Amino acid sequence: MILKVQDLKKSFIQGERKITVLKGLNLEVEKGESVAILGQSGSGKSTLLSLLAGLDRPTSGSVQVSGQDLGNLSEEDLTRFRGKNIGLVFQQFHLMKHLTAIENVKLPFEILDIEGGQKKAEDLLERLGLGHRMDHLTHQLSGGECQRVAIARAMMTEPELLLADEPSGNLDRETGEQVIDQLFDLAKQNQLSLVVVTHSEQLALRCGRQLKLRDGVLQKHEGQISL
Ligand SMILES: Nc1ncnc2c1ncn2[C@@H]1O[C@H](COP(=O)(O)OP(=O)(O)O)[C@@H](O)[C@H]1O
Ligand SMILES: [Mg+2]
Repeated sequence: MILKVQDLKKSFIQGERKITVLKGLNLEVEKGESVAILGQSGSGKSTLLSLLAGLDRPTSGSVQVSGQDLGNLSEEDLTRFRGKNIGLVFQQFHLMKHLTAIENVKLPFEILDIEGGQKKAEDLLERLGLGHRMDHLTHQLSGGECQRVAIARAMMTEPELLLADEPSGNLDRETGEQVIDQLFDLAKQNQLSLVVVTHSEQLALRCGRQLKLRDGVLQKHEGQISL
């Protein structure tokens, strides 16, 4: 089991109000499995992903990644654990503007102080069809190219789990499909477990399971998704 989420709850204080976004959510993801998470805007999808990534702490309940309970890690250990074990891809790419494509991809190795980043980053960028774009700054790249750089960066440490928050949300349909194809190819080759938040039915259908976040819990997604 790569991901095990038990009775996850998350509340936020907004002014005078307490809002409970996640209300006892459970999820299990096996190695190599892909899961799409659908749900209305504001239903808590991004909140869930940040808890899965250990970017935020739950109010209660637990998240285990590759057997490690994230709640048992200090902030420092959590940052290190995330860097090694969890790949993150966001809608807005989150690339460093002053760095080139390959420098962005190598960043996780620099941060974790691991050798051999250059070769590995080159390989990943080649595999994603960006061999000719390695030394470009991110503003010289298209949206689809930026997202592929972000995917390459997320793959650098060979995580077992990749979390993606609307990865094609900022791309036109055709580009989005190309990027998603490549993401799934990489995931398959590397036996990666994927949790993908998406509004795209097409992307959701690429995943082995489709779940809907509603009223603070995950339900099997019924209807709506059809070709
Ligand atoms: N840091 C925060 N502080 C207060 N409220 C938050 C915070 N993050 C998210 N929320 C609230 O939690 C709810 C779910 O947000 P979010 O997870 O971003 O939804 P989604 O990604 O499904 O659109 C929203 O009502 C949002 O306002
Ligand atoms: Mg969101």
